Amino acid sequence: TQLEMFVDELQDMPRIKGFDTINGFHVPNSLHIGMFHRKWKFHRDLPPTPVFAYGTSKETATVPGPTIEALQGIETYVKWKNYLPSKHILPWDPTIPMAIPHTRNGGIPTVVHLHGGIDEPDSDGHSGAWFTARFKECGPTWSKKNYHYHNFQHPGTLWYHDHAMGLTRVNLLAGLVGAYIIRHPRLELPLGLPYDEEFDRPLIVFDRSFRIDGSIFMNSTGNNPSIHPQWQPEYFGDAIIVNGKAWPYMIVRRRKYKFRIINASNARFFKFYFDNGLGFIHVASDSAYNERPVMLNEILLAPSEIADVVVDFSKSNSDSAILTNNAPYPYPSGDPVNESNSKVMKFIIRANHEMDKSKIPRKLIEYPSAKLSSASVTRYIAMYEYTSDVDEPTHLYINGKSYEAAVTETPKVGSTEIWYVINLTGDNHPLHIHLGLFKALDQTELVDIDKFKECMMKINDAIKCRIDKYAHGEKVEVSAHEKGWKNVYKMMPGYVTKIMVRFSYIHSNRSYPFDATAEPGYVYHCHILDHEDNVMMRPLKLTH
Ligand code: C2O
Ligand code: CU
Repeated sequence: TQLEMFVDELQDMPRIKGFDTINGFHVPNSLHIGMFHRKWKFHRDLPPTPVFAYGTSKETATVPGPTIEALQGIETYVKWKNYLPSKHILPWDPTIPMAIPHTRNGGIPTVVHLHGGIDEPDSDGHSGAWFTARFKECGPTWSKKNYHYHNFQHPGTLWYHDHAMGLTRVNLLAGLVGAYIIRHPRLELPLGLPYDEEFDRPLIVFDRSFRIDGSIFMNSTGNNPSIHPQWQPEYFGDAIIVNGKAWPYMIVRRRKYKFRIINASNARFFKFYFDNGLGFIHVASDSAYNERPVMLNEILLAPSEIADVVVDFSKSNSDSAILTNNAPYPYPSGDPVNESNSKVMKFIIRANHEMDKSKIPRKLIEYPSAKLSSASVTRYIAMYEYTSDVDEPTHLYINGKSYEAAVTETPKVGSTEIWYVINLTGDNHPLHIHLGLFKALDQTELVDIDKFKECMMKINDAIKCRIDKYAHGEKVEVSAHEKGWKNVYKMMPGYVTKIMVRFSYIHSNRSYPFDATAEPGYVYHCHILDHEDNVMMRPLKLTH
């Protein structure tokens, strides 16, 4: 049965301030945010769904969780608390490397990562730093209860989500996601973009399937249970959820709004466009502003990519606009969208025109650009898919190495590196790097890829396999709106993507106010959560 669309109103998740104000001065704040098992109404006609939700109490916990609003330069401390029961609401796969409590009913391992945050390793939500209810059991790299977010970086949109080893995809599916905004009023207010709570709205988008009883549907057996009892290479749901409601509607005024669109899906790419031709003015992507606004008719967002856009409803020639999606799944060569997953939400536009003092400036924020010539190290990062003899993918690796294999990526604090990311699979993989920010420079098609792949699968050495002989097919330019600093980018199948990664702040030459070389270090991985869990993830260890 199909649920009726556009019957629930879009919600704005509760906002929590990551700072305190004393006598007019902003000072650090300490938050307590819990993870709770509760029920959540995703749709008017759907029974309440058991979920895991972030919030300051069980009654106020939401899916997505509260939006944390931080101020640039003012630290935020968060004590993340696990109040989850001992049994998960979703099936998980014990054959992949994962967090497992020692005691039976030891609880559900969780650990929170602030995605896009530039923070100390101890507060980064390392996959092994998990903990169960009341910190009864903790993972091998766990070290502290109170996370410290510096907020020293550039302003922008971030998000927080679970990152427990092998459980990331089910913990996020269960609802453990939320938005985190770093604001820098002195820098941002003069731009004139919509900035007030009413007109500056996070939109957290993900896909889910439900059973008739309202529970989240996830196959309880994998595509090939003899290899993995419970692994589907990508989870896709047919209902599109925005801020916790399936295909919601929002009544908007005839003026400009800023939307911070976060793709929080496990595996679904979205290609957003408006059915009435309304455009997007793209102003920032996963955490850094563009140098200039870019007009777009459509936006392609991989899982965990973020687009901050302005939509000017005064330009609409109709009284409603449906935000639509036409990205095949898996991307780019999977099934075409259907009636359900092609619709996202509906904007109902009020008739009367009104004063709108917000504007789109010609220039946004320009960050000092790192010079290519200053790059000290070049790395080749190859993405593989291993299949069984029945042609079922069994696991995905980076550089042919398991997650546990000794660390190979050891950049120096303050350095700039060039990474050539070689995608030898048929899927597009969004590569996400913790701590470092990067610029995508270009993408070059691999010619004769089968021969190259054969060599790589054998000796896994891009230089010895003569990548220079193969990487000279079609060159694809990075789109104007994606040329800025990012923390995740789409690695095209059959292409080598050249990125410039910087391990320092992009807005200043200051070094980190914490020891980035400390244990347990960081990680980088594919942000298709099913891939990340199985195990397209590698350690990243900073050095001096
Ligand atoms: Cu959004 Cu390693 O995560
Ligand atoms: Cu992937």
